Amino acid sequence: EDEKKHHWFVGSIDQGTTSSRFLIFNGEGDPVASHQIEFENLYPQSGSVEECIEEAVRKFVELGYDKSDIRSIGITNQRETTVVWDSNTGEPLCNAVVWPDTRTKGLVRELKTREGADGLMEVCGLPLSTYPSSVKLLWLLQNNEAVKQAYEEGRLAFGTVDSWLIYKLNGGAQAPNPVHVTDSTNASRTMFMNLRTMQYDDKLLGFFGIDKSKVKLPKIVPSSDPECFGKVVKGPLINVPIAGCLGDQSSALVGQCGFNAGQAKNTYGTGCFLLYNVGNEPVISKYGLLATVAYDFGGGRKPVYALEGSIAVAGSGVKYLMNNLGFVNESSEITALAESVPDNGGVVFVTAFSGLFAPYWIDDAKGTLFGITQFTTKAHIARATLEATCFQTRAILEAMEKDSNHKLESLAVDGGLSNSDLCMQTQADISGIQVDRPRMRETTALGAAIAAGLATGVWRQLEDLKEVNQNGRKIFKPQIERAKADKMFKKWEQAVEMSRGWVN
Ligand code: G3P
Repeated sequence: EDEKKHHWFVGSIDQGTTSSRFLIFNGEGDPVASHQIEFENLYPQSGSVEECIEEAVRKFVELGYDKSDIRSIGITNQRETTVVWDSNTGEPLCNAVVWPDTRTKGLVRELKTREGADGLMEVCGLPLSTYPSSVKLLWLLQNNEAVKQAYEEGRLAFGTVDSWLIYKLNGGAQAPNPVHVTDSTNASRTMFMNLRTMQYDDKLLGFFGIDKSKVKLPKIVPSSDPECFGKVVKGPLINVPIAGCLGDQSSALVGQCGFNAGQAKNTYGTGCFLLYNVGNEPVISKYGLLATVAYDFGGGRKPVYALEGSIAVAGSGVKYLMNNLGFVNESSEITALAESVPDNGGVVFVTAFSGLFAPYWIDDAKGTLFGITQFTTKAHIARATLEATCFQTRAILEAMEKDSNHKLESLAVDGGLSNSDLCMQTQADISGIQVDRPRMRETTALGAAIAAGLATGVWRQLEDLKEVNQNGRKIFKPQIERAKADKMFKKWEQAVEMSRGWVN
């Protein structure tokens, strides 16, 4: 049995904001085959997931592996993004509302004046903003006829992207017992879940005026379980159980093996999200961070919570320079462009394209460029774009230190922009702590594979993961003087203040 186990594999679906991917990991936590599809529109089509599974499994078999050794599949996904469908037909009722969407700005302003608004954070860990799923669902109920009607007729199904994918992979409405679940990490982003009971909270639902009898909410289950996520009903992995599910930022923390309180990771994807493991009790932030479920592996293990600093724009800032301003042809070229100048030339770019998230939470901030002179070039703006994420990360680290009374010594990093040595050195310089980058940076996908593998015997306990992803890490140490970093950061803070209050 142990000999056989050595050859087991776990698949991982990673449904990000701009791509669908499927990766197959071996028992050492190394990816052996994968396939990725980038998409422009932000509609979560399960079709691209199925195509990725097909292609990755084809490559896996071509490499000489046996697909019957794939024990289970984990799912990881962009969080908060809200999907609504008709529970009778299984068809979506409208396009998904994606997490950085700010159409809810006016609604949030109104909600903040409602009675009870002040008590929400204590229960769910999140402040009222345009970000959580609750305000997205409420906006749809107020503005979309098809959604309103389905709600009135009791056939409205709600879910985050994990729920939708699990539902579809299990056969959707055609399944004998349609599977409508979510894991507690994803549920903790809706603003409907009580962080301590890990269940929907009537006070929270009541505040948003959501009538539980009219909308089908996904059942909240632990992130690692051999049964409750069902199994794949078609394609090359037919009958393989889905055994793990984690919101992508939780998944990256797991993939970095950040299992101890006091460990933190920062993932530079479309946005950038810093999660700090606080252990088995949630910490409600007083300084602009979110309290969230880090992971909940079930089976008698206690859930683990995190403090989170969410930045809406990171890689999407680079994409903006590329797609909207034509600065480069490939995202990866941005580092070379930024490196072609010795510094930002006095330019500060507050990339508040979706307002500003943590720790500021300024819904009406707009992207603003400061310090432009006759000498400013694309290269300075590119540099300022990379620096924006690093400055906001420093602000988050300062808030985290105040909330936890603990100064972080090392920050584990991953995600697209972490490939940029310049960006990671800048992060170390600006924040004054060392940045620790793994060689294998598929940590988000690995986390979901770990959740699934733990539920299906590929790994028995967290101890078995000790060696995973430890080799070849690169450390970036702060190199500039603290006084210089502090001066740069002061300028950033001033720029943040000046980006407020733009009226449409
Ligand atoms: O909360 C949104 C987050 O889950 C999206 O992650 O990787 O698409 O920036 P990412």
